Amino acid sequence: MERYLTLDPVQFNYALLTRSQRISHENLRLRDPQWLASAEKWFQEQSGAPANAPVRPPMFAPFQLRDMALKNRIVVSPMAQYKAVDGCPTDWHLIHYGERAKGGAGLVYTEMTCVSDTGRITPGCPGLYAPEHEAAWSQLAQFVHAETDAKLCCQIGHSGRKGSTNIGWEGMDKPLAHDNWDLISASAIPWSPENATPRAATRDDMDLVTAQFVASAEMANRAGFDMIELHAAHGYLLSSFISPVSNTRSDEYGGSLENRLRYPLEVFAAMRAVWPADKPMSVRISANDWVGEDGVTPDEAVEIARAFHGAGADIIDVSAGQTTIDAKPVYGRMYQTPFSDRIRNETGIKTMAVGNIYEADHANSILMAGRADLVAVGRPHLADPYWTLHEASKIGDRAEAWPRPYQAGRDQAWRLADREAEMFRV
Ligand SMILES: Cc1cc2nc3c(=O)[nH]c(=O)nc-3n(C[C@H](O)[C@H](O)[C@H](O)COP(=O)(O)O)c2cc1C
Repeated sequence: MERYLTLDPVQFNYALLTRSQRISHENLRLRDPQWLASAEKWFQEQSGAPANAPVRPPMFAPFQLRDMALKNRIVVSPMAQYKAVDGCPTDWHLIHYGERAKGGAGLVYTEMTCVSDTGRITPGCPGLYAPEHEAAWSQLAQFVHAETDAKLCCQIGHSGRKGSTNIGWEGMDKPLAHDNWDLISASAIPWSPENATPRAATRDDMDLVTAQFVASAEMANRAGFDMIELHAAHGYLLSSFISPVSNTRSDEYGGSLENRLRYPLEVFAAMRAVWPADKPMSVRISANDWVGEDGVTPDEAVEIARAFHGAGADIIDVSAGQTTIDAKPVYGRMYQTPFSDRIRNETGIKTMAVGNIYEADHANSILMAGRADLVAVGRPHLADPYWTLHEASKIGDRAEAWPRPYQAGRDQAWRLADREAEMFRV
């Protein structure tokens, strides 16, 4: 309860009403439409929307990070496509991400984009380590900016001990049958008994990888990305330093959380130094190793968030797990959101929630209660590039702009949604 005492009374009330997850945003609308409209208006005004703008649910409120202005709070979560060739994005990426940028989300993430060929997870992963990669991403950024009002974020990472593995549908995290490459990680501990044993990164390895992260950040800027994210989650190289399940080093990069964070923070700071001051940068963390006190706990995640914020992170992308095969995650609707809630409301740092958020109602409840500033939606965007537009249509929002060539489709979708809502009322 103490965590929420500083919230505005409107948000405090809303958080109390919805905290059990039994009462949702649309459910509150049925119970007390006037109160909910006043709460939505409050949220919108806090977000900087003009006072005379029509009142809309929180997922459609604008959001600003440094000079990047987002039209709404929905994010296409990073999702590997395994369609790159020699690290180069292909037509697949142009069309896949182009479609999602047309689909209404305010911010579209690329999948993990790797800093070197040996930093790839699989042979199908894209990179930002050669001029042709920069050119291909630049073509995407030009399309997104010319034809849509979505912003584009490049997630940059290094695979560490989870590298040299198969593309997703041929056995996730399973080692390649041939053409493997040498792995590095915080310590010489394989991901699983099946995977190759990595070398514990030496200071030279670390210097080289830092320089590669910096070079990728510079390429991302030249390619026209609006934002970058450092991938420090899910057991990849930087995550392997942060988590005690993969870091048993006895030097200044192992042991205490401060030591385990030292190298990831060095990388973050080096990238931040070359990434333009007017563009935002985030970090994705695993807020829970799901192994109890033997790994990163949600308590520690608060400190991890503080440390990256101190190094210049504008927002923390709060994921969890995938750091050890021993994890026992507890799944459910919005199951990782409590970690985002905790970080945001204990530190005041901006957060993004992700994980099993699949309806507008979930997104609106999370945002209105102050459990996150942005909501990342992954798998629903694989099933439907136009997830935001379709959810808006379903909940009766008629203010979301569709691509102009699609307006006839929009009008029919709205008519059908209105008819369905009418039948539901009867
Ligand atoms: C096919 C697939 C690929 C993914 N690739 C990435 C990735 O490249 N980087 C990352 O941080 N998370 C990745 N994720 C995790 C998603 O970003 C997201 O956190 C996860 O799917 C939970 O959100 P959801 O329930 O909305 O799908 C991937 C997920 C899927 C399903």
